[in-house]
Order: sequence, then structure tokens, then C-alpha cells
Amino acid sequence: MIMMIDQPWVEKYRPQSSKDLVGNTTAISKIKKWLSNWPKSISRNKRALMLFGPSGVGKTLVAHTIGSELGYDITEINATVKRSKKSMDELLQTSTMTGTLTSTRGRVLLVDELAGLSGKSDRGAASALKEHIQKTRVPIILVTNDISEPKIRPLRKITTLIEFEPVKESEIVEMLKQICNQEKIRFEDSALDTLASHSRGDIRAAINDLQSISKSVSVLNNRNLLEFIQSRDQRIDLNEALDRIFYAETWNKAIIAANQIDVYPDELIRWINANIPLVFPELKQQIKAFDFLSRASIFSRRINRTQNWRLLPYSKELMCITGTITDGTPTPKRSEYRFPDWIQQMGFSRGVRQKRVLVGHALSPIVHLSAKRAYEEYITVLKALLKEAKLKERVKNDLDLSEDLVHFILK
Ligand SMILES: Nc1ncnc2c1ncn2[C@@H]1O[C@H](COP(=O)(O)OP(=O)(O)OP(=O)(O)O)[C@@H](O)[C@H]1O
Ligand SMILES: [Mg+2]
Repeated sequence: MIMMIDQPWVEKYRPQSSKDLVGNTTAISKIKKWLSNWPKSISRNKRALMLFGPSGVGKTLVAHTIGSELGYDITEINATVKRSKKSMDELLQTSTMTGTLTSTRGRVLLVDELAGLSGKSDRGAASALKEHIQKTRVPIILVTNDISEPKIRPLRKITTLIEFEPVKESEIVEMLKQICNQEKIRFEDSALDTLASHSRGDIRAAINDLQSISKSVSVLNNRNLLEFIQSRDQRIDLNEALDRIFYAETWNKAIIAANQIDVYPDELIRWINANIPLVFPELKQQIKAFDFLSRASIFSRRINRTQNWRLLPYSKELMCITGTITDGTPTPKRSEYRFPDWIQQMGFSRGVRQKRVLVGHALSPIVHLSAKRAYEEYITVLKALLKEAKLKERVKNDLDLSEDLVHFILK
């Protein structure tokens, strides 16, 4: 049996032209006007737009769609890639001062995921960006979720702010309906309403959910939808997750399990990798499983490299295919899984690993780093703070740390 890997629907149904964009009409028409009138649209020396708003509402999409529709070449810089001031300078210099050969209009510089600049070592890159905005010869579009970030604040004065709002439920329902019709999915209207309201205006999340759940139901209704949402939102431990992934009855169940644990995709891949030989007795099956897994790891490496977390759901989806390797022949269940070698070598127990992840997640929103880097860079500081009797309670509350985690950190 050859498993076909579905194309993610957020890609398959990504609007190709601006008339297909859903919601945020005011923001979209402002961007269109600003770009098509460039450089006349520069007012009060603001040579850049700053698009801001919640995730999955189309900020990146809109910048690309309108830019290319108006005949621009788009040069994208992802701000989360670490750069020194010097290399940022060079990159900005070439992309803001020189023209392109291919496009009729010239170039737009898109700086996406601006919040990624906010780490302390990136102060130089942020100031380089500021300097170049003030003298750029090409329009610049900045994109961020949150304009209240300290490092982003100075950029607000020199950019025209464009706010994106959560997409309206009715608009999300409309889009989901179209996809259901194209994919020949049967549904009850109320189910799409529920799905849209759970997405909180994040159209990407709504589409991803629809794709996941549609794999396992024949008619989408409120009951199976709520079941899906509830189980997805429950957290489970690694052992349980591996059980559910390897022995899933449906692909969908495996995907849900992969989404319920707090480990990074590459880490989950290592776990699956270490356990394939134990779970699948036959060499033939093992080869098939490793083949799928290697494709999954390409995705996960791409996530690590580009820090493009939008790829995450797809990576997890690919990994879970291992659960379908045996063509329906059940293999005996394992009571225990093997640790990936690298964890053994480093002397980590699973408990330690998980606690690190939890501490990382508590720190991450405060220090604006990924959980992993937040842990690595701030654990010493956190430890020092918790040792101060006067500060301990406050830090514990602010980070919402359990007594158990505090104990772990202080150990
Ligand atoms: N307004 C929209 N109309 C149609 N599809 C949309 C819209 N917004 C998002 N999508 C779908 O969701 C996907 C993700 O959108 P996009 O990457 O632009 O979100 P974003 O606002 O940049 O999110 P983030 O803040 O996480 O980067 C798109 O590829 C598209 O499939
Ligand atoms: Mg984006």
C-alpha cells in the first residue's frame, strides 16, 4: 500500500489573488493603495508599513499576494534568523538600495516575524533596520503579532501602522464551506459554526482543524467536532503519545496525539526513530517506517532552520504515518518505550527533559525566545532569582511555576 501524503489545505486553498482574500478588507485596501502609490504614498517620511495582529489571519499572505499582484518582486527577510548588525546592514543595503531586473515595478522588502528581533543579542539588527527604513528606496513591509514589544516600539514612529483583526466567524464559515464542497465533505451547518468559533478568528487553525478531522468522520457534526477539539486540547505524556501514535486506528487519532505533547518535532522524531525496531517486527515494515520518518525529519529540520512554525502541523502529520505501516495487522503492544540514544548519552531522564520543557514554556513569552532557548539562556538567572527569599513567591507566581518545578530548578 502506498500512502499518499495530503497537501496541506492551507496551501491548497491559499488565495491566489487579492479578490479571494477573506476578511480585513480595510487593512487590505490600505496596503494596496500605499503600495500602488509608492513613492507618493510616503507621508511624514514613513517609508514602511507595519502590519500587526493575531496569528493566522493572513498578514504574510496579504503582503505576498498584493505585492506580486502589483508587479513587485518580494524579498523576504525572516527576522527570527539571527544576524549581527553588520550582516543585517549588508542585507538591508542590497535589498533597499538596488533595483531588480525581473519585475516591472521593483522590489518590496518584507521583514516577517519581527518579534524574532527582540532577543537581547539582536539589538544591533533592530537598529540597523531602523536606519535603513529611514533611507530606503524601496517600500518596506514589516510584519509582527505584537507592536507593544519593547524592541518594536521605536519602529512604530517611523512606520504606517496597519492593524489586522481576527477574521469574522461568518467569513471563516464561508471559507470552510467552500473547502468542504470542493473536498466533498458532508457537514451539518452547526458544526462549521462551532469550528469557526473555536478558531477565535485564526483562519489557518480552522482550516488545519477541518483537514485533520475530515480524515476520520463521514459526516461532520457538532458531536464529533467537539470530541475532536476536546481531545486535541488535552495534554498527554510521551509514553501515552507514542502508544497512540504507533497504535492509532486512524491517521487522525495519531495526529491528535502528536499535537497533545509538549515536545519539539525533532525530539518526537527521535523517539519514534528509536522505537521503530521495537514496534515493527518485520524488516520490511521497518524500512517503510524509516522512509516515512526521514521525510518527516526533512520538514522538522526546515522548521528548525527557518523557524517557520507554520510548518509544524505538517511535520507532525508526516511523522504519524508510521502508525499505518503494518497494513492493519496489529503488532503486540509495548508496555515500555526505549529512550532515544542521545537522551541516554546526555544522562537525561524523561522526567528531567519534560521539566525543562515546562520551565522553558513558562519563560518563553516573557523573554521572547523559543522555549528551548529561553531555558538555556535564562535558567541560571531564574535559579538565582528563586534563591532570593524576597523574590521567590513573586517569581513563582509570575511564571506560574508549580512547587515541583521550583524544586527542580533549585536542585
Ligand atoms: N484572509 C485570509 N483569506 C484566506 N486564507 C487565509 C487568510 N488568512 C490566512 N489564510 C490561510 O492561512 C494561511 C496562513 O496565513 P498567514 O501565514 O498569512 O498568517 P499570518 O497572519 O501571517 O500568521 P502568523 O502571525 O502566525 O505569521 C494562509 O496560507 C492561508 O491558507
Ligand atoms: Mg505570518
